[in-house]
Amino acid sequence: MVWSGGGRTCPHCGSPLLDRLLSVPCISSGRTQREAGRTGSGRESNNEREVCVNQASRESAFDRMVEEIQRQIIEDERATYSQKVIEEYYNPKNLGRMSDPDAVGIVHGWCGDTMEIYLRMNGSRIEEATFMTDGCGPTVACGSKLTTVVRGMSLDQVYQIEQADLVSALDGLPEESLHCAELAVNTLREAINHCEKGEEIPRLSENTGGE
Ligand code: FES
Repeated sequence: MVWSGGGRTCPHCGSPLLDRLLSVPCISSGRTQREAGRTGSGRESNNEREVCVNQASRESAFDRMVEEIQRQIIEDERATYSQKVIEEYYNPKNLGRMSDPDAVGIVHGWCGDTMEIYLRMNGSRIEEATFMTDGCGPTVACGSKLTTVVRGMSLDQVYQIEQADLVSALDGLPEESLHCAELAVNTLREAINHCEKGEEIPRLSENTGGE
């Protein structure tokens, strides 16, 4: 950090000034240096890049706390989930509702979360599959993986996919997340059922976040 206050101090709390542009308020006055300048309160109006040491140390302590929380979250995720689950969760494929799909499955899980799966068919094969969910990270990973692997499969092949297959494709899930894989597989089956029966595409209700 560069000290360049030239021995000058914050007009509000009296601590040394730093050469940093911040829009956060002074710890004492609640005003930023920029605001102090606008109101014509004197010398600080010529230097909007100044911020007092109190503010800077408070900010760096906050930065350190955020970094520590982020590090802890990543560590916990790695201890709980496989690398594949983490990758699918952070970079989900096929996420989004499909316009004009050939089939839709919408299932509400017992946990309160919802999964939607959309299929576009080419004859009896799945040409494209997308998903949407308001569920947890593992559910996102399950939707991403499932909609990827079914592409090009026939309905008969897809119907044979079990929860355990999806869990295995993700290199495992913790016990408490197994139902997320079940939700994804059940939703896919629901979509296939609609497709096979030639049923009308269900309209999404408001509480599923639908249109
Ligand atoms: Fe509800 Fe994962 S916790 S689907």
